This record gives sequence, structure tokens and C-alpha cells, in this order.
Amino acid sequence: MVTVGVKSIDREHAALVDQLDRLQSNPAVHPDSDAFTDLLSRLGRQINAHFENEEEILRTCGMPAEAVLEHFRAHTAILDEYARLNLDLMNGGELSREAALTLIRQWIVEHVLRHDLKIADFVPAADGAQPTS
Ligand SMILES: [Fe+2]
Ligand SMILES: [Fe+2]
Repeated sequence: MVTVGVKSIDREHAALVDQLDRLQSNPAVHPDSDAFTDLLSRLGRQINAHFENEEEILRTCGMPAEAVLEHFRAHTAILDEYARLNLDLMNGGELSREAALTLIRQWIVEHVLRHDLKIADFVPAADGAQPTS
């Protein structure tokens, strides 16, 4: 996984990718299973905590206000999608395993690539930057 150069953020991204891997590697975890419900609620707590931490970095790293706002909006959109997914499932909505995986992959992998990587431009190399491996 690519790194943004802030240790705590990179660690949280790795933990989120772990959850996604766990889901991808276990075909038994289908959206109508208890295992999926557990994983989804754990993921929701993790995403919430991660966004709070990352937004603190975004507010203080010197990134232009417009870029920070755009990033905040992307977080809000993900939290909205998460809430909507939970509501749909609660109301008996049908969701394929592939659709769930696609959604979660967007929240985690695509968001990091499209938004979080920009943080690297504003983090001094001395402040926790680590070689990409
Ligand atoms: Fe982000
Ligand atoms: Fe992030």
C-alpha cells in the first residue's frame, strides 16, 4: 500500500485494507450473513475514527482551504453511503457480495489514491515519512 508519510494515518490505512482483504478472501462473508454485519459495523467505527484523525491533519498541514474542503466532502459522501447501505440492509435490501466489495473498495482504496495521497505533498519529509515498500 502506498504511504502518505504520516505514520498514524498510514497505520490506519493499512488496518482498513486488512478489513477489506479479510472480506475479499472469505467468500462465506455474504451481505446477508452475521459475519458481514459484524465486519461492516467494525469497519464503520474504524472509518469514523480514521476520518476524524485525518481531518485533524488536513486542517493543520498547510493544504489550501479549497482542497481541504473537497477532501472533507469526500469523507462526508462516504459516511452517507455507509449510512445508506446500513439502512438498505436493515430494510431487507438485497446486495450482492460483489456490489458490497466494490463499494467498500471505493471507500478505502480509491479514496486513498484519489484524495489521501495529496497529503504527502504537505508533510515534511522529516515528519514520519517512510520509504514506500
Ligand atoms: Fe481521506
Ligand atoms: Fe484516509
